[in-house]
Amino acid sequence: MSVIAIVSQKGGSGKTTLALHLAASSTQGKLPACIIDTDPQATAAAWGDWRGDFLPIVVTSPPARLGKTIERARKQDDVEIVVIDTPPHAEAAMREAIKAADLVLIPSRPRAFDLHALEGVADMLQHSGKPAFVVLNAVPSGATRQIAEATEAAKQLGLEVCPVTFGERADFHKSSAKGEVAAEIDSGGKAAKEAKKLWKWVKKQLG
Ligand SMILES: Nc1ncnc2c1ncn2[C@@H]1O[C@H](COP(=O)(O)OP(=O)(O)O)[C@@H](O)[C@H]1O
Ligand SMILES: [Mg+2]
Repeated sequence: MSVIAIVSQKGGSGKTTLALHLAASSTQGKLPACIIDTDPQATAAAWGDWRGDFLPIVVTSPPARLGKTIERARKQDDVEIVVIDTPPHAEAAMREAIKAADLVLIPSRPRAFDLHALEGVADMLQHSGKPAFVVLNAVPSGATRQIAEATEAAKQLGLEVCPVTFGERADFHKSSAKGEVAAEIDSGGKAAKEAKKLWKWVKKQLG
């Protein structure tokens, strides 16, 4: 079983969007996933409620119980991937998630304020020694220069950037709001393709 932590100090950076899409892709690709939602706002859990009986399952856990919750998932033979969704502005929750993770993903919009918020995460990650990547999210179309600048800003903080980015696409928010993922509302759409590509890349990182 592999554990992926999705962290960032900033609200609205795309943590939950990334978590849902990765877990759904994994499940569709025959690696059943479980999302552990440690955010008191429980957005991922609400998505799970709207989704009903369809996989992946979503469980909630206070950050202090994360280790135990992962242990429970580990005992379930059919859970291959755990995706931890975390709250913003919550150092302790972030620390717990990083500690438990095999791979850390940090979604960020490619804008100066958002990139500035990577500083705190970068510090924490340096001490953890865990493989970590910034995933640029909600990238406007044709924003090649913004991507280059964001990549440079991340590099300055000692962070690598994932080669797969998510564009600013209605399918991401429209699907999430219905308890679905992009591929379920338009399987041939750009959002669906990006989600699939990200999962493929993540799987490779996990080895
Ligand atoms: N790539 C994207 N394109 C369009 N909307 C997005 C994208 N990523 C996130 N959103 C929307 O932005 C809002 C915040 O995203 P969310 O994943 O909930 O962020 P976080 O969990 O970091 O607070 C949500 O309404 C979500 O649907
Ligand atoms: Mg969230």
